[in-house]
Amino acid sequence: MIHGIDHIGIAVRSLNERIPFYRDVLGLGQPEIEDVPEQGVRTAIFVSGANRIELLEATSESSPIARFIEKNGEGIHHVALGSTEIAADIAAVTGADLRMIDIEPRIGAGGARIAFVHPKSTGGVLIEFCSR
Ligand code: CO
Repeated sequence: MIHGIDHIGIAVRSLNERIPFYRDVLGLGQPEIEDVPEQGVRTAIFVSGANRIELLEATSESSPIARFIEKNGEGIHHVALGSTEIAADIAAVTGADLRMIDIEPRIGAGGARIAFVHPKSTGGVLIEFCSR
């Protein structure tokens, strides 16, 4: 079951360059920095109320974030929806004959179980299911 927006993922060229806006101008405090080598990214996560803002920097040229920035420049990369039963949410998508990028959940930042829905199935939005 989906329960609200867990976080917004924003692709940036450089965490060091972009963190000051969120930390100092918006006053969101010190982010948690984490390397997610399986995905070729380093993340900076700001907590704001019940939601998070996840900045994503590529750590390798083959990273999906590197390819995204090459194509689109910096900007919103994905919207993550909180999921209480990620297997059931994946099954709902595949059961409707729509495409998942991840049929099996994988481990994302903060140890969350995540799975991406293919943007072709959502009208162009990369949607992440995120189960904590
Ligand atoms: Co995310």
